[in-house]
Amino acid sequence: MRKVILACIALFLAINLDASEGFYRLEKPINESEYQIKSHHKQVGIKCENCHDMSQKEANLVGKASTATCLSCHKSYEQLASLSAHLGYDDNPHASPHYPDMDCKLCHASHKKSQNYCVMCHSQESLKNLIVP
Ligand code: HEC
Ligand code: HEC
Ligand code: HEC
Ligand code: HEC
Repeated sequence: MRKVILACIALFLAINLDASEGFYRLEKPINESEYQIKSHHKQVGIKCENCHDMSQKEANLVGKASTATCLSCHKSYEQLASLSAHLGYDDNPHASPHYPDMDCKLCHASHKKSQNYCVMCHSQESLKNLIVP
C-alpha cells in the first residue's frame, strides 16, 4: 500500500512539473555536450545553471530560459539600446519603435546560430550586415 502511495506521489509530482510549463521535457538523459554554451558566455564562466533550473535533471527536465533570465544579468532594454546606439535609429536592434520588449531569443539563439529578426521586414544593407552574437 505504502509503495502505491509513494508511486502516486511521484506521478503527481511529475505531472505537476510538466503542467507548470516552466520546463523543457527531454526524451533522454541530458547530454551537456549537445547544448554548447556560446564562447562569449563560456569566457566569463557562465554555466547551464545560470540560465536554466537544472534541479530536475534526473527527471530529464530542464527549466526554461526566458528574456527575464537574460535581463537578470543584462539589466534592461534601455541599457542594451545604449550599448548598440552607435548603429543609429534605423538599425538599433534593441530600440525598435514597434517591438519594445522583444524576446531575446528571436535573435540571439543560445545553442544554434543567431539571426536578425528585423530583416524579415527591413531590407537595408546596414541592418542585413549586422552580425548577431
Ligand atoms: C545564456 C543562457 C543559457 C545557457 C548558459 C544555457 N542555455 Fe540552454 N537554452 C537557453 C535558451 C534561451 C534556450 C531556448 C532555445 C534557444 O534560444 O536556443 C535554451 C534551450 C535549451 C534546451 C531545450 C532545447 C530544445 O530542444 O528545445 C535544453 C535542453 C538546454 N537549453 C540545455 C542546456 C544545457 C545542458 C546547458 C549547459 C551545458 C545550457 N542549456 C546552457 C539558454 C541557455
Ligand atoms: C549570469 C549572467 C548572464 C546571463 C543569465 C546571461 N548573460 Fe549574456 N553575458 C553575460 C556576461 C558577463 C557577458 C560578457 C560581457 C558582456 O558582453 O556584457 C555576456 C555576453 C553576452 C553577449 C555577447 C556580447 C558580445 O559582445 O558579443 C550576448 C549577445 C549575450 N550575452 C546575450 C545573452 C542572452 C540572449 C541571454 C539569455 C538567454 C544571456 N545573455 C544571459 C552574462 C549573462
Ligand atoms: C532584433 C534582434 C535582437 C534582439 C531581439 C536582441 N538583440 Fe542583442 N544584439 C543584436 C545585434 C544585431 C547585436 C550586435 C550589435 C552590434 O553589431 O553592435 C546585439 C548585441 C547584443 C549585445 C552586445 C552589446 C554590446 O555592444 O556590448 C548584448 C549583450 C545583447 N545583444 C543582449 C541582448 C539581450 C539580453 C536581449 C533581450 C533582452 C537582446 N540582446 C535582444 C540583436 C538583437
Ligand atoms: C513584421 C515586420 C516588421 C518587423 C519584424 C520589424 N519591422 Fe520595423 N517597421 C515595419 C513597418 C511596416 C514599419 C512602418 C513602415 C516603414 O516606416 O517602413 C516599420 C518601421 C520601422 C522604423 C521607422 C519608424 C518611424 O519612426 O517611422 C524603424 C526604426 C524600425 N521599423 C525598426 C525596426 C527594428 C530595429 C526591428 C527589429 C527589432 C524591426 N523594425 C522589425 C515592419 C517591421
